[in-house]
Amino acid sequence: MSIVEDAKQAVKGAAQAAMQTAVQMAPDSWMPGGRPDPLIRQQHGFVGKPISRLDGAIKVRGIAPYAAEFPLDRMAYAALVFSTVAKGRIATLDTAAAEAAPGVALVMTYRNAPRMAPMPLFMTSEKACGGNDLPIMQDDRVYWNGEPVALVLAETQDEADHAASLIHVDYVAEASVTALDEAKANGTEPGQFMGQPLKYESGDADAALAAAPHRVDATYTTPRHSHNAIELHAVTVVWEGETLRVHDASQMVAHMAWSLGHVFGLDEDQVHVTSPFVGGGFGGKGLWQHQVLAAAAAKLSGRPVRLMLSREGVYRIVGGRTITEQRVAIGAQADGGFDALVHTGTVAMSHHNVLPEPFILPTRSAYASKTMKLDVEVAYLDMVANTFMRAPGEAVGTFALESAIDELAVAMDIDPIELRMRNEPEKDPTTGAPFSSREVEKAYRDGAARFGWAQRGKPGARREGEWLVGMGVATATYPYYRMPGGAARITLTRHGHATVDIAAHDMGMGTATAQTQVAADRLGLEMEQVTFRYGDSSLPGVVMAGGSQQTAAIGASVIAAHRALVGELLKLAGNDSPLAGLDADEVGGIDGGLAKLDEPTRHESYASILARAQRDTVVVEATPPMPLETMHWSMHSHGAMFCEVRVNIVTGEVRVSRFLGSFDCGRILNPKTAASQFRGGIIMGLGLALMEETQYDERNGRIMNPSLAEYHVPVHMDVPEIEVMWTDIPDPHTPMGARGVGEIGITGVGAAVANAVFNATGKRIRDLPITLDKLL
Ligand code: MOS
Repeated sequence: MSIVEDAKQAVKGAAQAAMQTAVQMAPDSWMPGGRPDPLIRQQHGFVGKPISRLDGAIKVRGIAPYAAEFPLDRMAYAALVFSTVAKGRIATLDTAAAEAAPGVALVMTYRNAPRMAPMPLFMTSEKACGGNDLPIMQDDRVYWNGEPVALVLAETQDEADHAASLIHVDYVAEASVTALDEAKANGTEPGQFMGQPLKYESGDADAALAAAPHRVDATYTTPRHSHNAIELHAVTVVWEGETLRVHDASQMVAHMAWSLGHVFGLDEDQVHVTSPFVGGGFGGKGLWQHQVLAAAAAKLSGRPVRLMLSREGVYRIVGGRTITEQRVAIGAQADGGFDALVHTGTVAMSHHNVLPEPFILPTRSAYASKTMKLDVEVAYLDMVANTFMRAPGEAVGTFALESAIDELAVAMDIDPIELRMRNEPEKDPTTGAPFSSREVEKAYRDGAARFGWAQRGKPGARREGEWLVGMGVATATYPYYRMPGGAARITLTRHGHATVDIAAHDMGMGTATAQTQVAADRLGLEMEQVTFRYGDSSLPGVVMAGGSQQTAAIGASVIAAHRALVGELLKLAGNDSPLAGLDADEVGGIDGGLAKLDEPTRHESYASILARAQRDTVVVEATPPMPLETMHWSMHSHGAMFCEVRVNIVTGEVRVSRFLGSFDCGRILNPKTAASQFRGGIIMGLGLALMEETQYDERNGRIMNPSLAEYHVPVHMDVPEIEVMWTDIPDPHTPMGARGVGEIGITGVGAAVANAVFNATGKRIRDLPITLDKLL
């Protein structure tokens, strides 16, 4: 690992100095003993170095095994048949031809599927992660257009696919609701997100809006989006007696084991889920019906089963981002100060899940306003259960909010950055809590200088041949969360090797690399002396790779385990050690052992401590405190998004020519992997702005473009050079000083592009995606 070697050379001996620079700060509830994490201030360790992914080489060589790449003896391949009505009953189900087809081992339908409980619905209990809570092939009922109604197992994938095509199904369709207007006419209900109402009011916003000397008031609409991770959803399962072995593509292995156990009436430790490599998750890689169906088919056939969804299959059975209609109205004084901020609207949801797209989340803490009214209403449709998709809420909520602010800036002839700065809140506008750290102004100032914002002209002013050129800006924001991550385990050997175990995930973000850096610094070891194990439900911990919170969740668990390790080592060191009499809070991992933080010459190596105690290993496991920091502080990642577009006056084609994301996400643990996260989020945001739209037939609830030929995502030619930069100002109230970087990149991009399109053309597009027909 030459890159690790390079980094090692660069930092040799520096960890020790860095530990000495640890400064005392206000204690946080999650920090044992109230001592801030020394890594917050560390400037010279592995943390903060652009270290390449440790798993990069095996991925490039094609030897990193993904969920569909575990060949097992006697394995059978599965294919699914999807319903073609939105609601009703199966009238005839003719499987004879499929059963007689070459290579077929099993045809499973509601007639022969084993009895199974519905999936426990996501967020209804600690480890529940089902995307919906419908019966799975238990009777002749159909609940959405695209629901699996038959599964074929065969000796090869081709034989399974062919046999599935021979199955003939007739339906008795029933009245269904598949149009948003019809659903709204049936009445809406207030939305809830993670148990909290998506509703907030302070003062009389309607009256303040009506009285304000300046105002904008508009409706913004965003379409459905389908999950399109590069790795298709896939699972390889085998029953080993009463134990279910699952190779999955998952962002939540512990949740999966518990939830699959619930479906099949097993204890969670009878289900062993591993997911060492995942080709993208984005919120879509949880528990959907394919894992359940694969396990059921394996049980029925007595064979290991591989089920990899086709791309169409992902669109049919894995939910995506739902449709939104959002009103944003802002009333302002002559100086630009907000008197009223209104963000309300309606989203579509199925009856069988609980995720209204929470588009007001960014508005709750972005701007100061004398009055505020926020509300998400839910209309119910008979459709595939929608779900989390990168920055659920913020991705499309910031499109509406940040477009409206641009509209107000234009109406008042104030620079849009200046208008935002005049409304910077001093504390959280809805909770009154202080911000843990908020450097929005710096992100804007630094970004504007780097991007050349001062060169922006009036709408329509800059033309180069057939192209109108414009610049736009928008605020990016995503909350800091930390879900209780459960325990982490550290095993330290007398040879000075540490293994950190936690049921966490690396879907390509670089988790394993960044966590190895953190653990090496924390323990005072080289990176080669640390093994980070994850992606296995048999490991301790209940970590979800979601909500941009995994790094903080793992960090807190490892802090707790490390503290237990230090305590254990001090006990073993005893009275003959230079460490004798010291408290765990005074001691850190330095140079292959423990040392007193402010007196590093009091040092004893791990090898020496363990040898004297006649121990080969020390194993500790500990659980961190509950995430109380989010109750004391308003905690968010921030950013400023700068976009330059070129719009063709003949064709209406939009080309993004430059993009800069200027971020404020606390301490950046690994600039290389974080930059990839930021860039990936921005690229996904360009898709949201210009291309992505699930074409949904409102007559029958059928998704019409379930393929990457017809559902467009950005390709290389669509993506300009993307610059990213960050403040790198540690947040004193999070583990390691870091806030999340995974989702913020997609937020603000839709509005930055739309605002740039307005600056180029004078045309305001309030309906995503911004396709050329809307500009002609
Ligand atoms: Mo994400 S939508 O929290 O995987």
